Amino acid sequence: MGVTARAQPNIALIKYWGKRDSNRNLPAVGSISITLLDLYTEMCVEFDSESGHDTLTVNGDDSPALLPRVVRCLDDVLGENRSRARVTSSSNFPIAAGLASSASSFAALVVAASAAAGHERSTAELACLAGRASGSAARSLYGGFVELQNENEAILVDSILDGDAWPLRVVAAVTATEAKPVSSGEAMEISRKSSPFYARWIEEQPMDLATARDAIAVRDFGKLASIAEHNCLKMHSVMWASRPPVVYWNSATVACMQAVRELHESGVGVFFTIDAGPQVKAVCLPDDEARVVDVLSQVAGVEQVLVSGIGTGAELVASE
Ligand code: DP6
Repeated sequence: MGVTARAQPNIALIKYWGKRDSNRNLPAVGSISITLLDLYTEMCVEFDSESGHDTLTVNGDDSPALLPRVVRCLDDVLGENRSRARVTSSSNFPIAAGLASSASSFAALVVAASAAAGHERSTAELACLAGRASGSAARSLYGGFVELQNENEAILVDSILDGDAWPLRVVAAVTATEAKPVSSGEAMEISRKSSPFYARWIEEQPMDLATARDAIAVRDFGKLASIAEHNCLKMHSVMWASRPPVVYWNSATVACMQAVRELHESGVGVFFTIDAGPQVKAVCLPDDEARVVDVLSQVAGVEQVLVSGIGTGAELVASE
């Protein structure tokens, strides 16, 4: 019997960059994100006791490159003495290009695999399992504004505000759709080992988290905008100063940032953030969405503009 779960990507406002334990994939810092609504990945897990190996198809094609991470995640969720699984994944947005498809994929996978095996697990347990596969995936189990705390041995994730309580909009400007040259996991390790700014990044993160938490608690858009852009640019500075340098941006990325800055200066409620890829996510007030879409669509090099509200987190969608 196949079980399908759906999860949305999340956009980090205060970023996870760096691992304190790469074997267990534990993050070196806490992070705060918003879970999207309109972009999603669906994962279907179906056990096949006859088969000697797991299979994975992504958007209709076999995906041998991603299979090892999926196999490891299934082992974590189900134990190693398990039936082999047929995993089918589909996303309604470009995968592997910095729109956090690994977050939505692994969040959906742990929910679907657990349910397919009849396990009853709390959202907190599922978040830990998803985080082992991909740190940011732990946040996609929850909806709204989500904080991942890094203070305990195990990670602690929870929603700190519902999306309905502050219905911000996200406008993602897609500037390239090919897979990124270096995975975020690898790039984090390069930064940890070689960036002269890495230690300072880790040291300042609690301060940035506290500022963002306060801004979210009182819905202070200006304060959230300022700390989110600062934290994003600081993370990219850590990457740029790594050896070899890790630069995910292209010229359209920079042009989008410039466009968002100009909008902001003209009184539009908007700020940008960028993850491990060249896409620019503009977070804006609902009344300013149309203006932001209009301006970003016209930036040279922007291939597509995707719009989303804030969603409710991973869930089961169907059993057949
Ligand atoms: C820049 O969660 O993809 O998007 O744990 O190695 O899978 P792994 O990394 P991943 O890293 C996300 C990095 C980021 C910032 C963020 O989402 O917080």
